[in-house]
Amino acid sequence: METKIRKIDKNQIDENIINEAGELLKQGGLVAFPTETVYGLGADALQEEAARRTYEAKGRPSDNPLIIHIADYEDLREIAVNIPPETDMLAAHFWPGPLTMIFEKSEAVPYETTGGLDTVAVRMPEDPVAQALIRAAGGFVSAPSANTSGRPSPTEAEHVLEDLGGKIDMILDGGAVDIGLESTILDMTVIPPMILRPGAITMDMIEEVIGPVRMDESLISADSAQAPKAPGMKYRHYAPNAELIIVEGDLREEILAIRQLAFEADRKGHPVGIIATSETLPFYKYGVVKNVGTRENEKTIARGLYRVLREFDEENIDTIYSESFAGQGIGEAIMNRLEKAAGHLHIPAADVVKLQKYRRITFVSGTDSARGPMAAELLRHCDLAQEYVINSRGMVVLFPEPANQKAEAIMKSAQMTLEDHSSLQFDEEDIQEDALILTIEESQKEKILSEYGHPDHVFTLNEYTEDDTEIPDPYGKPLTAYGECFEVLNRLIKKLAVKLNSLTEEEKWQEEQ
Ligand code: TXA
Ligand code: MG
Repeated sequence: METKIRKIDKNQIDENIINEAGELLKQGGLVAFPTETVYGLGADALQEEAARRTYEAKGRPSDNPLIIHIADYEDLREIAVNIPPETDMLAAHFWPGPLTMIFEKSEAVPYETTGGLDTVAVRMPEDPVAQALIRAAGGFVSAPSANTSGRPSPTEAEHVLEDLGGKIDMILDGGAVDIGLESTILDMTVIPPMILRPGAITMDMIEEVIGPVRMDESLISADSAQAPKAPGMKYRHYAPNAELIIVEGDLREEILAIRQLAFEADRKGHPVGIIATSETLPFYKYGVVKNVGTRENEKTIARGLYRVLREFDEENIDTIYSESFAGQGIGEAIMNRLEKAAGHLHIPAADVVKLQKYRRITFVSGTDSARGPMAAELLRHCDLAQEYVINSRGMVVLFPEPANQKAEAIMKSAQMTLEDHSSLQFDEEDIQEDALILTIEESQKEKILSEYGHPDHVFTLNEYTEDDTEIPDPYGKPLTAYGECFEVLNRLIKKLAVKLNSLTEEEKWQEEQ
């Protein structure tokens, strides 16, 4: 089947296109259209055959009911009965908008549309294209999200084409949607009403209008012993191809943990995906990093989530790590979708972070111009099981200077460089809990200990590597002396790398016991 694509501007709706699409729906066809939440796959809600075609195109189980979309409030009474009185208030506040309400169905609604249920889900979308289409089609348009069952919902016409191209009659392309997550579903057939799916209309917003409502238990607890009340919420959903894991903790810990996980994976040759935000983006160096939105406005995160999950399907990765988001307001819906995409897989960030005793390694020499920077650069070239910030400092640095030229020449001959080095004075800021400080000489260690109140993470390089080969001071001597110094440092740094890696492995091992 050829899928026609029609661009449509919601501020200047082309009636001809709407009439063409409406006609297709009346004839039992399938037309995807934009709503403010996600793109919907429209069909005439009162035709059994149209519902069957909808399930087939999506590859969706036919026991998973569809939402009927209306454009005029009076039309609700044609498809629902025993409508509770609070409905008027809710409709006045939230319709048209991202709220779906469930009622007892009228006889006009075929069981094909409700997946065999005696209840019907109804929503009045706000998008003007959606409203015009619903009216042109006769008033009742069933529309699940216009994705292949199990994939992230479409937030752009392009996503619909990816999934349903060739399987449906038409796509109305109204550009990217506004909200990006599906509507809030509120079951009005129970007292008090119950939220079956969180969305942009939050529990607080509903309670402000009609008083207390409940949240479906199965949405709150991760253990899925409880079957969700909205049949669609029980399926693996919104899921990318790669395994998605949510890293949880405070934001700083999450960043550190994801950095480490990405570093380890990259080292093993399996780069990972990272769901990051504008604020955290610059902190990631390894992996395929995608910006989902800004933490300053969680709406942007809701809008970006499905797009980012889809984009990861184009990447050659097995695992995606995501930061987590506050569960308030729209954040509740974001976390609900993220949890479902992750199949409830979590890692506490603190568990990853606490395995890293040291995160920085600082080499200290006299003037920070030869032996210190050489040691630092040698360590940067080692295969380390963990990511470290590796630096060097000097005990007497009067002003910043480039590295000693002979030291640089020796490093060059070993395919390394001190080109970017500029010497820096050691100071209080270098004494941090997570910094391993290694001095070239005993005197430098003594000085730090006495000046900074005996921190317990300062060692000489010899002491820490349990190797007492003297590190010669080549200053003022010919190039060969720098060469000899390089050889000694090279050996000690290799030992250091082995020790650091065994530290990481050992802590991991202890953790697993
Ligand atoms: O924002 C939205 O609601 C989008 C746009 C297109 O309007 N539509 C949407 O439809 O998300 P869909 O089919 O992907 O999700 C509908 C959800 C499913 O989880 C389904 O099980 C639930 O609503 N649902 C529909 N009718 C129901 C009923 N009578 N009782 C309980 N759950 C129902
Ligand atoms: Mg859906």
